[in-house]
Amino acid sequence: MCCGEGAERVKDLRPIGGRRRWISVLPLAGLAWLTSGCGVIGGKIASTSDPAGDQARHIWDLFMVPVWWLSVAVFLLVTGWLLLNIILFRRKPGDTRIPPQVHGHPRLEIAWTLIPAVILALIAIPSTRLIFQLNRDPGPSSNALRVQVIGHQWWWEFRYPEYGIVTAGDLHLVVDRPVVLTITSQDVIHSFWPPRLAGKVDAVPGRENTMVFTPEETGVFYGQCAELCGAQHAHMQFRVVVQTQQEFDAWVQKHRQPAPDPAPGTLAATGKELFEGPAGCAGCHSVNPTYDPSTPINKTLMVGPNLAYVAERQTLAAFLPNTVENLHQWIANTEHVKPYSIMAEKWWKIRAQQNQLLTDEQVNAIVEYLRSQQ
Ligand code: CUA
Repeated sequence: MCCGEGAERVKDLRPIGGRRRWISVLPLAGLAWLTSGCGVIGGKIASTSDPAGDQARHIWDLFMVPVWWLSVAVFLLVTGWLLLNIILFRRKPGDTRIPPQVHGHPRLEIAWTLIPAVILALIAIPSTRLIFQLNRDPGPSSNALRVQVIGHQWWWEFRYPEYGIVTAGDLHLVVDRPVVLTITSQDVIHSFWPPRLAGKVDAVPGRENTMVFTPEETGVFYGQCAELCGAQHAHMQFRVVVQTQQEFDAWVQKHRQPAPDPAPGTLAATGKELFEGPAGCAGCHSVNPTYDPSTPINKTLMVGPNLAYVAERQTLAAFLPNTVENLHQWIANTEHVKPYSIMAEKWWKIRAQQNQLLTDEQVNAIVEYLRSQQ
């Protein structure tokens, strides 16, 4: 009796309108469309599936063999078996028999416990081996470039103790030359992740973690903080600029001294005066690219990012394209561009309360000065 009713119900459900089916697919399609635009940099998707460094390549290879192919095999076996049973044991019209009811089958249960265990072991062995291979310091005898990476809410600082140079936002590296990053944080836990070059390494206050990889292509690569670290976590990005040794040497040479002062009487010169004086920028930002390389990694140099040669960087405020308009917005409208940032809370808001926000001309002058940092 019950089954006859069930069959009726199934029959009722069958003619679902084509339109209703499409509506249920729409959110999925929308999600796919939204995520397909994620992190496109320089016309390329900032994806782990397109490695440009040895570490990212090892991780991707591990994903393809064995993880991907094992998943394909499991999918084909399970869906194949399912389809076979659906077709072979489909209820014939008029057949009202109840199939044999099975309760407990030790051999089957042992099999479906053992098979996943074997699959997991097949994945775990190469994964564990790779984990121990990655991020091994090649030692002082290698020609590895050494950079200190310091996470701040919400931007990244990069120090080159070898050259006594400090910068922020853009990490400059050399193609085909190994890099050893020493990673820490000034405040909360962050995670350093350049997806096309390497995996993720946590930036933990009071700890120094190591990341080792060799960039294999020149270009600009997207990087992202990968550990929820507060309101502006998504805007804690960075770029890795991979250069030839020659280009990198020129970059280092340039950064051994500050950019020349703007010519007297120019708008940029007014901007410099404002920057160093009444606007209060210099309280948090330095425009001197050098620092004492013996400074311990856990010692803060300045509250805000170093702004030497800021005009040459890829981004502003750790996420905005570095354009004149964005720079103007960032200074004039900090609270709306990156709320909860130190610059918004300790500078813009306080000046707004005191009715001391910079005038448009003052902002223009500072923008002009910062654009001369190149
Ligand atoms: Cu830093 Cu998320």
